[in-house]
Amino acid sequence: MTDYERVMRAVSSVREKTDFEPDIAIVLGSGLGALAESLETVCALSAEEIEGYPVSTVSGHNGKLLFGYLEGKKTVIQQGRIHYYEGYSMGEVVLPVRLMCALGAKTVILTNAAGGIDPTFKAGDFMIIDGQISTFVPSPLVGANDERFGTRFPDMSEVYSRRGRALLEKTAQELGIKAKHGVYLQTTGPNYESPEEVRAFKILGASAVGMSTTVEAIAARHMGREVLGVSLISNLAAGLGGKVLTHEEVKEAGDKAAASLTRYIAAVVKNI
Ligand code: HPA
Repeated sequence: MTDYERVMRAVSSVREKTDFEPDIAIVLGSGLGALAESLETVCALSAEEIEGYPVSTVSGHNGKLLFGYLEGKKTVIQQGRIHYYEGYSMGEVVLPVRLMCALGAKTVILTNAAGGIDPTFKAGDFMIIDGQISTFVPSPLVGANDERFGTRFPDMSEVYSRRGRALLEKTAQELGIKAKHGVYLQTTGPNYESPEEVRAFKILGASAVGMSTTVEAIAARHMGREVLGVSLISNLAAGLGGKVLTHEEVKEAGDKAAASLTRYIAAVVKNI
């Protein structure tokens, strides 16, 4: 079965349960689940209820799609992201985002927790993603191309739309948030980077590093959708903060930022 067929099978399986057509899709990063509480949910589907949807066997944190209204806008939220480091193929990793787009989403908002590389970044900052480096992970488009998703060789010169970045900046200013801007680089994980890698990524132009997002952005752009991205800088990248990195630190930063990120993303959705 091709990735296209797998996504279409998932679409049929969702359509047996809801006819909700979202305009906006949001992917929540580590520790950023609080946004789901602001959604007026009309339908919640667990990974197991959607045919072909990757079910996490590793963490026990099973994925969910939540359909409903956020600031009055028809929205679907993906809770429980699928990570490449869990052993899924990139086709599986991007299945949820493709599914949300196939169900109707025209705008995709990607969030994540990331390690800050730019020397002006502090833990707790928000970074509006202006661009990305996906070179260190396999493309989700490898394999047979189905033109019903998009063209074989899609352009990636404006992954994060100019309009979306301006909207993120304007909304941050309205809320009194001093958002940073930068380039997000994805690694496969699950290990954090070495300080040498962090120095190399800096030379390459990365402002922040994490283990998700760029492949989802590529899959959404392949389908012609508009992509917006926000990173929570949960920590300074290895070698820059003077201490070892732990997943607990990343989760704690997510918990601390949850309320303000939730307010921010909800306001962004309102302004779309
Ligand atoms: N590196 C990679 N991924 C991350 C980090 C980091 O420092 N922080 C949160 N996700």
